[in-house]
Amino acid sequence: MLPKKNVMLGLVFAVVPLFQASSTVIAADAPAPAATPAAVVAPAAPPAPAPITDPVKLRERGQILALSCSGCHGTDGKSASIIPSIYGKTTGYIESALRDFKSGARMSTVMSRHAKGYTDDEIHLIAEYFGNLSKKKN
Ligand code: HEC
Repeated sequence: MLPKKNVMLGLVFAVVPLFQASSTVIAADAPAPAATPAAVVAPAAPPAPAPITDPVKLRERGQILALSCSGCHGTDGKSASIIPSIYGKTTGYIESALRDFKSGARMSTVMSRHAKGYTDDEIHLIAEYFGNLSKKKN
């Protein structure tokens, strides 16, 4: 009886790794499993953050948003390239330019796409940041 049992055990040990290996391959080839119901039913959205009203925080937000412009328009909007400078332009000019880019009233492949990423409030903050920057003497 003993030898037979050993053979059986040997078979089990030989088959288990095979099974594991093949199941791994199948898993790798298989399409991504369908989203589980838990993933489909999104958890309740977190409460919307309270709107920022503190003027200092709003200016900071404008400054942070304006950072994305410097890659093309230069630090502080002072461009060293063919791209127009924003520095020196008024809040009103920048705001209406961005709104026009966003709405399509003014065409620009680059700026139209870029401006569409901002809400009107964000556009206002960005314009205000550059407008105020230009008023400072430096
Ligand atoms: C990927 C590069 C790029 C980025 C990023 C970018 N711009 Fe521009 N921007 C341009 C180019 C190019 C033009 C000129 C477009 C034209 O007139 O067709 C332009 C034009 C403008 C103009 C019009 C200037 C004028 O003289 O009338 C304003 C205002 C402006 N951008 C503001 C911004 C602001 C604010 C940001 C950041 C939120 C920004 N841009 C980000 C490339 C960029």
